[in-house]
Amino acid sequence: MKFLVLSRKPAIYSTRRLREAARIEGHSCLVVDPLRCVLHLEGGSAKVRVAGDDLTGIDAVIPRVGSYAVEYSLALVRQFELMGVPVLNGSAGIALAKQKWASLQALTAAGVPVPPTTLMRFPTHLADTLAELGGPPVILKLLRGMQGAGVLLAESGEAAESIMDTVWSLGEDIIAQKFIAESRGTDVRVLVIGGEAVAAMRRTAKEGDFRSNIHRGGVGERVALTPALASVAVRAAQVTGLRVAGVDVLESKEGGVVLEVNSSPGFQGLEEATDRDIAVEIVREAERLAESRAGRQTAGHGRPGATI
Ligand SMILES: Nc1ncnc2c1ncn2[C@@H]1O[C@H](COP(=O)(O)OP(=O)(O)O)[C@@H](O)[C@H]1O
Ligand SMILES: [Mg+2]
Repeated sequence: MKFLVLSRKPAIYSTRRLREAARIEGHSCLVVDPLRCVLHLEGGSAKVRVAGDDLTGIDAVIPRVGSYAVEYSLALVRQFELMGVPVLNGSAGIALAKQKWASLQALTAAGVPVPPTTLMRFPTHLADTLAELGGPPVILKLLRGMQGAGVLLAESGEAAESIMDTVWSLGEDIIAQKFIAESRGTDVRVLVIGGEAVAAMRRTAKEGDFRSNIHRGGVGERVALTPALASVAVRAAQVTGLRVAGVDVLESKEGGVVLEVNSSPGFQGLEEATDRDIAVEIVREAERLAESRAGRQTAGHGRPGATI
């Protein structure tokens, strides 16, 4: 098969490992920067050009979309969907995962537990909100944050108000969330592939921080998932519409609550902590997707362009 990995950074660990794994599994694998793809629409058809050539013969696309130029990358993923090329994580799922509030709404609608969270736009609503969230302290998150940047802990109502005022004056949105103190700077990152929790690690924040992101100096260790946590993570991935998802779960007194679902989870920390070959698992999911799509098309009831 011929796989296409969309990644801005061919040299980073996860991208390198995916290319390696595809080749070990006997496939060819192209790695292309989404911004180097030219999207063309004409006469009712869609194509993608790279370096002056039409990109054809791709059996499955594995998108790795970071935080830069998300709209462009989503347009490209949608272009492949339009062309009938199977895409491992579809544009709708990636777009939803990139929107914190919309994701929390979708999880809530499906009955997946999330921490008590509030969205508001005026300081007059803060006192009421703090009472609802059992704070201060309270967690504040910029709606456009990622990898722990833009996630803060406000120790007092005054601190929360001044931070929120600053953010609002810049025209940005910020959410307030109950601080799950009992998780003590740890969370569980669960990797869900094809509806199965394939690997998990407990991440512990570095001394003095509450954010356990590996990018923020957090350390990961293998953890055995309870069936309850695994089921919460699998449902979160499913609700978000992702075949490959990194689900962040906090262990609260009431059980696992989902913080967020990542559509292009890095897996270096997870491979190191668990000794699992995550790259091969992702490639095999791409194989299954390509095979099922090809099977449906030869059977005569394929619907090119349909995803998830
Ligand atoms: N409500 C919360 N209570 C306690 N810790 C939290 C809470 N929300 C986030 N954290 C910590 O901060 C980290 C980053 O938050 P997250 O919502 O995953 O944002 P990001 O997109 O920046 O990763 C989490 O992995 C967790 O360690
Ligand atoms: Mg996170």
